[in-house]
Order: sequence, then C-alpha cells, then structure tokens
Amino acid sequence: MASLRFSWLVQAFLVFATSLCCAQVTPQAFFETHCYECHDADSKKSDFDLTALPHTFTDTAYFDRWVKVFDRIDSGEMPPAKKPRPLAEEKAALLGWLKPALVDGEQTHLADEGRTGIRRLTRVEYENTVRDLFDMSGIALRSELPADGSAHGFDKNSDALDISHVNLAKYIEAADHVLDLAIATQPKPPTVQKRRISLANRGGFIAHIIMNGDGVLLKDQRPDPEFPPASEHRHIDQGAHERMGSFRNGASVGVFRHEDESVSPYFMEHVTIYPGRYRVRTSLWSFQWDKGEVLPARGTEAGRLSVVQLTGDGRGGQHPSYVLGFFDAPSLEPQEHELIT
Ligand code: HEC
Repeated sequence: MASLRFSWLVQAFLVFATSLCCAQVTPQAFFETHCYECHDADSKKSDFDLTALPHTFTDTAYFDRWVKVFDRIDSGEMPPAKKPRPLAEEKAALLGWLKPALVDGEQTHLADEGRTGIRRLTRVEYENTVRDLFDMSGIALRSELPADGSAHGFDKNSDALDISHVNLAKYIEAADHVLDLAIATQPKPPTVQKRRISLANRGGFIAHIIMNGDGVLLKDQRPDPEFPPASEHRHIDQGAHERMGSFRNGASVGVFRHEDESVSPYFMEHVTIYPGRYRVRTSLWSFQWDKGEVLPARGTEAGRLSVVQLTGDGRGGQHPSYVLGFFDAPSLEPQEHELIT
C-alpha cells in the first residue's frame, strides 16, 4: 500500500511540474525569450523578422520560412551558441506545436495544389529540349544519361527526380557533347553528298533473309528475273551470289517478315560519321506475296524507319535506336517520303 501511494505522489508532482513549465511556453513566449532580440523589426539578423511572420502554414513562402525556423531550433543552431540554451521541455513544446502545424499546412497545400513540386527534366525531356534549343532534331542523348526513377507510379514526380553528383556530371558531359556538335569547326560548310542505298547489298544481312525465302528482290514490281525467289530455286551459296553481283546496290527489296529479335533489316551501306543535317528520302509500297506472285496488299501498310546508334565496336544487335517515323506504304503505289534529321 505504502509504495503505491508513494508512486502516485511522484506522478502528481511530475504532472504539476510539467504543466507549470509548459503552460507558459506559448510559441510567442518562446520566441520572445530566445529569438526576437535578433529577429524583430529593428534587428533583423539575416534579414529575418520573426515577429512579422504570420502563423500561416499553407502559403509556401511562409511555410518555407517556418521550416527553417523548425530546423534551426531542432538542430540547436538557434538561438546561437553564445546565448542561453532553451530548456529541453521548452524546446520540445515549441517543436511539438510547430511540427503538426507544418505537416498540416503542407498536406492542405498539396491537397489544394495537387501537383508535383519543381523538378528537373527527365532525360527524355532533356533530349527533346536540346533538340529544340539547338535545332538538332536527331541528336541522341538519353542513352548516355542515368535512368530516371519513378515515384507514386509517375516518372515525372519531383520525388523521383533528384540530382546526385553522378547525375550532374553526366548531364554536364552531355551538354559538352552537344556544344561540340553544335559549334562549327570549319569556315565552310561541308559539301552536299548524295547516296542511293538499298537494303540489298554485298555482305548485307538482307541477303540471308532473301536466300531463305523471307524476302525477294524486285524489279518493276515483280520478282527480279535475274534473281528468282528462293521458293523456285534453291539458293545455296550466298558468297557465290554476291560474286555474281546478285545483291546489287539499288535493288528494290520485298520483305515478308516483321522485325523481331532475329530479323531487323537495316541499310548497312550507310554509317553517319559526321554530325550534320541529313535529308532522307524513301520510297515504300506494299504487296501481298502469293506463290511467287506480287498481288495487291490488303490496304496501306506502314513502315518504320529508325536510326541505330552504334555503340562499342559496332558489332551485335543491342544498340540503342531512335524512331525517325512511321511511313505509309500504299498497295502497289510507291510513295516517297522525305525527312530531314
Ligand atoms: C544573438 C542573435 C540571434 C538570436 C538570439 C537568434 N538568431 Fe537566428 N540568426 C542570427 C544570425 C546572425 C543569423 C544569420 C546567420 C545564420 O544564418 O546562421 C540568423 C539566422 C537565422 C535563420 C535563417 C534565416 C534565413 O532565412 O537565412 C533563422 C530561421 C533563424 N535565425 C531563426 C532563429 C530562431 C527561431 C531563433 C530563436 C530560437 C533565433 N534565430 C535566435 C542571430 C540570432
């Protein structure tokens, strides 16, 4: 019995002591004791007048100020070290008042605004911006930049788009690269050169496709008589065909397969070495292939033209690519498309 009573006494005393200490610690009292000396209208240290800061937490300008106040008190930086320290209870009471007010204010603000905060560009946006800014529509940057994260299911949420030093270094590198390409290094523009290139050519990948019956060489919209389709004649030796000049530059090529992992027809005769403006003109049409005959297609098909950026030693098929566009291929009616990149 006795010990019970004793503990009740101690508790009662503690409660009394606490209420004594903190009943007086209104925010106003705390600031008056510890802050106003340096942060009122007269002596605005660091141009900060705490007496003029309204107790409004939803407005971002005031909110940001209050966060600073919280942080400075929380870390013990304010009041400055040479000044008497606030009591632990005093400090706890003030922060205990300010913290929920800030959390509340921020949530109300977010609910009203419903938007993500200021953020940096994603790497895709950065690339697009550089393309617009420097009028370099084909420049490829995104694969050289660190991948962006996502937050709350969005890749454009400011929470996901932080900036690390690695990030910054990569972006600066990219900017350097852009400037190198954007600034002319010779007094005269390069001469204009024209090339006609075909999917079919010596040593090309398409030869393999054609030899296996997944494509056909065409002349005047019918199978090239000098190179009958694989279904009619067995094509045995690709090298022999090449020596005969079967896969001549300039031939029209019909392809029966969609692009997939094992088939991706490309114009290997052209590799762009010099940065510059390239005008690409292409002619596309579609047809149906029926036992060696060219018949009208079901309708207008579409072809996709991409640029492959060769990385490393240029071998293999794992290089990043960029779509230049999708182009109509009307049935049996060659249509020319032109783009500048
Ligand atoms: C003895 C004078 C003095 C007292 C007392 C004082 N401060 Fe300061 N305060 C300064 C000075 C000087 C600076 C500028 C240097 C700095 O940022 O550390 C400053 C800066 C600040 C800043 C940063 C303002 C800005 O936006 O740059 C905040 C916030 C702040 N004080 C809050 C407080 C709070 C809250 C108290 C009371 C708990 C307090 N200070 C007490 C002198 C004081």
